[in-house]
Amino acid sequence: MSLTPFQNRFLSRQALGIGLVGWLLPLGLFGLGGCLAKGADQQAAVSLRQLAQERGLLWGTAVQDGQLADQNFSKLLKAQAGLIVPENSLKWDQLQPEHGKFDFSKADGLLDFANNNKMRMRGHVLVWHQQLPAWLGSLNKQDLAMAMQQHINTVVSHYRGKLQSWDVLNEIIAEDGNGLRKSIWLDNLGPQYIDQALLAAHKADPNVPLVINDYGLEGDDPKTARKRATLLSLLKDLRSRGIPLQAVGMQAHLAATPTGPTFNTLPDFLHKLAALNLDVYITELDVNDSQLAAGISGRDKRVADIYEDFLSVVTKDPNVKLVATWGLSDRFSWLNQAFPRSDHLPQRPLPFDMQEQIKPATKSIIKVLSNQK
Ligand code: XIL
Repeated sequence: MSLTPFQNRFLSRQALGIGLVGWLLPLGLFGLGGCLAKGADQQAAVSLRQLAQERGLLWGTAVQDGQLADQNFSKLLKAQAGLIVPENSLKWDQLQPEHGKFDFSKADGLLDFANNNKMRMRGHVLVWHQQLPAWLGSLNKQDLAMAMQQHINTVVSHYRGKLQSWDVLNEIIAEDGNGLRKSIWLDNLGPQYIDQALLAAHKADPNVPLVINDYGLEGDDPKTARKRATLLSLLKDLRSRGIPLQAVGMQAHLAATPTGPTFNTLPDFLHKLAALNLDVYITELDVNDSQLAAGISGRDKRVADIYEDFLSVVTKDPNVKLVATWGLSDRFSWLNQAFPRSDHLPQRPLPFDMQEQIKPATKSIIKVLSNQK
């Protein structure tokens, strides 16, 4: 659909839910000076990366290499993201489809895009139980340990000095929160695979911040409490033995219900991570709306409220250094494949809508990022 400049402006303002006064309101209330784009195209009437930067926060998004060819999307990306994370291009099955044969072409393309647009890039992910090539499954324990070392050494060395951080370990806590997740790594190498992975990454690039990344750490339910406790005891152990680690990644794949999730216990968890001298990154933020009724305005309002509730908590903590959403516009969300709505309507989980326009969630983010600390 191609829009006239007038339609475009009208749509954006409608989506923001503000009228004429509304253009002035953010300027005064939220200190948006300098962030409003000039000209008729209101697709990027605000720059989240700039607003975040003003409060010392790095703002970004996951991206797939194929999406860069889309003009509308890449324009939005340049305006909004100070950081990109390859959504899939740095996973094992992409990087090492055959044993010992590495293909960096897609991820290198994303790094070039980041560098050309003054963005940072994060590395995601070195050790995970998913998106692994089939050949790994046929290795004996010793060869598997060697393959892990070789993969980490080759990949981290390739990007040495070039990345903002590396997710070394992803989703290593058990689904129910009790202990470590059973996986090809734990089952074959034992819990020491965690030390080995972190040490190998540190050796290959001693300056890049290393991250343990996981989901289900944000809310107030008992499973989250168990997962936090397990993670904290693992982190204390790593710290006590001097294993290199700089940050914890909270994926923040939030699932909306009419009244949840809530984040009352999150500040305490963040303090505990700070006490361990670890930075916190919000690495994969989105709001799954599959449990909400179909109506778009109701869904958008609830999703926007959750963005506001969650970001209000995390932006208050000086230890939270980075926020990345898992996609920027609703057009490209993984949730439509991973958690499709039962009514088959597309989900609306991200900061911008299907046409890369502002929506209520954008307004929430602007509001929180513009608030005084
Ligand atoms: C997802 C991607 O978004 C999808 O495109 C892919 O098909 C599956 O993986 N946690 C993670 C991410 O750490 O790597 C996952 O990304 C989403 C959940």
